[in-house]
Amino acid sequence: MMSIIRNKETTRTDFVFYADRIIRILIEEGLNHLPVVEKTIITPTGKEYEGGVEFQGRICGVSIMRAGESMEQGLRDVCRSVRIGKILIQRDEETALPKLYYAKFPPDIATRYCLLLDPMLATGGSAIKAIEVLISHGVPEEKILFVNLLCCPEGIAAFVKVYPRVKIVTAEIDGCLNERKYIIPGLGDFGCRYYGTD
Ligand code: URA
Repeated sequence: MMSIIRNKETTRTDFVFYADRIIRILIEEGLNHLPVVEKTIITPTGKEYEGGVEFQGRICGVSIMRAGESMEQGLRDVCRSVRIGKILIQRDEETALPKLYYAKFPPDIATRYCLLLDPMLATGGSAIKAIEVLISHGVPEEKILFVNLLCCPEGIAAFVKVYPRVKIVTAEIDGCLNERKYIIPGLGDFGCRYYGTD
């Protein structure tokens, strides 16, 4: 599936279809990293199923606009009526630093495990800013899980240096960034390929 979405010849329809499949797997894997408590289950045979578990706590999603919004449906598909917040971060042209333009979260976000959604971890600037915003809203670092399709060593290094306790669940780690800050070999601009824009 990664080969299909990386291929420049792949149509937009296939890109969306296979990206959605990968996202679904990543979300399922992300959920496996959330804490559970033991629960003994009685099955219809009347016997105990030992070693059962149930989720401890509640979750929410937070997508980094625009590409991260492509991951919202994958989260909804596995977590019925999940609450999803949004963050818009863009580069400030004057300072060249990531700047927060918009953030909207569930009111009780500080009490939830938070799945931060962004398909590409390139320089790490947006993800680092997003975590800073989540922490400023009371979400503890260790309750944030960053779900990502493709990352690179530069982005991971920058990210873990600032937030070593945030787990990253990703599909692949690529070689490097080019001078335009694209992941190499990468897949191009995820948002443009997913949404069919330039
Ligand atoms: N964002 C993208 O969409 N692609 C990259 O390669 C890097 C950041």
